[in-house]
Amino acid sequence: MPSWIHKPSWVHKPTRKIVLLVTGAIALVLFGALGAAVVLLSGAYSTAATTQHFKITHRLLDAGLRYSVRASASDIQAPILDEPHKYEQGAACYRLHCAQCHGAPGIAPDEEGRGMLPIASNLAQSAREWPAEWLYYVTKKGVRMSGMPAWEFRMSEESLWSTVAFLTRLPSLTRAEYAQLSQYSAQLECESAEGAEMQASEDRTKIVFRQYACHSCHRIEGVVGPKSYVGPALVEWSHRKYLAGTLPNNEENLVRFILDPQAVRPHSLMPKLEVAPAHARQMARYLLELE
Ligand code: HEC
Ligand code: HEC
Repeated sequence: MPSWIHKPSWVHKPTRKIVLLVTGAIALVLFGALGAAVVLLSGAYSTAATTQHFKITHRLLDAGLRYSVRASASDIQAPILDEPHKYEQGAACYRLHCAQCHGAPGIAPDEEGRGMLPIASNLAQSAREWPAEWLYYVTKKGVRMSGMPAWEFRMSEESLWSTVAFLTRLPSLTRAEYAQLSQYSAQLECESAEGAEMQASEDRTKIVFRQYACHSCHRIEGVVGPKSYVGPALVEWSHRKYLAGTLPNNEENLVRFILDPQAVRPHSLMPKLEVAPAHARQMARYLLELE
C-alpha cells in the first residue's frame, strides 16, 4: 500500500477481530442450516410418531415449557379453588375434555391419547409440581407442537378454573373416589366458551379462524396453515360478488353461511363447525375487508 494512503481510523486490530468473529459465526450458522437442509431433503429425518425423541430433546422441551409457563403465568392470580362445587364441576370438564389424552385415576387414556408423541403426561404428577396458575395457563392456552389444545375457545373462564380446582385434587384421588366423582359429575355440564369472551381485533380474528379449523380446508389471507385447497381460497374477498355460488356477498349472508353451510347450500361439503355467532360475524368482517 502506498504510504500516502492512510488506513481509516476504524480499521485497527480489534475491529478486524470482530469482523472475523462475525464472519465465522455467520459461516457456522449457514453451514448448520445447509446441514439441516441436507438431512431434511434426503428424507433421513424421521417424522414417524414411533421414533422416540432423544432424552436431551425431551428434557429441553420440558424445561422450555416450564420456563415459558412460569413467565406467562406470573401475573395470574388463582381464585379460591377449594370448594366442592368447583372441583365437581371440574371433574365434569375433565371427563369430557381431558381424560381421553391424560387418563384419570384407574382410567387409561384413549387409543389416540396413547399413540401421541409427545405423550400427554399424567396430570397427577403435574398437579403435584405446578401451582394452580400454571395449570390454568397451560389449560387455557395449550402447548404448541405437542397436540395439547387451547381450551379458552371451548370452555368458559369459570370452567377453566373449575378444571384446575379438580386438577389440584387429582394427586390424592383414589380410583374409587374418582369413579364416584365421575359418576356424580356426569349429570353436570361443562360450560363452553362464549363468543363474547374473545374481544375482536385483527389478531384475535386470525386465532378464531384457526380455532375452528377453517384453515384445515381453506387458504385464508393472513392465517398460516397447511396448503389446503379443499375449499376455495379465502383471499381478496371484498372483490367477490357472490358467495357459495348464488348469494350476494355481504356480511349477513356470510354469517349465515359460516354458521350453517347446509342451510344455505344443502350439498355443501363444508361442515357445520358450531361457530359462535359473535365469531362468525368477526370472521365475516375480516374477510370482507380483504382487498
Ligand atoms: C388431544 C390430547 C389432549 C387433550 C384432549 C388434552 N391434553 Fe393436555 N396435553 C397434551 C399433550 C400432548 C401435552 C404435552 C405433553 C405434556 O407435557 O404432557 C399436554 C400438556 C398438558 C399440561 C402440562 C403438563 C406438564 O406437566 O407438562 C397440562 C396441565 C394439561 N395438558 C392439561 C390439560 C387439561 C386440563 C385438559 C382438558 C381440559 C387437557 N390437557 C386436554 C394432550 C392433551
Ligand atoms: C372440511 C373442510 C372445510 C372446513 C373445515 C371449512 N370449510 Fe369453508 N368451505 C369448504 C368447501 C368444500 C367449500 C366450497 C363450497 C361448498 O361446498 O359449499 C367451502 C366454502 C366456504 C365459503 C364460501 C366460498 C365461496 O367461494 O363462495 C366460505 C366463506 C367459507 N367456506 C368459510 C369457512 C370458514 C369461516 C370456516 C371456519 C369456520 C370454514 N369455511 C371451514 C370446506 C371447509
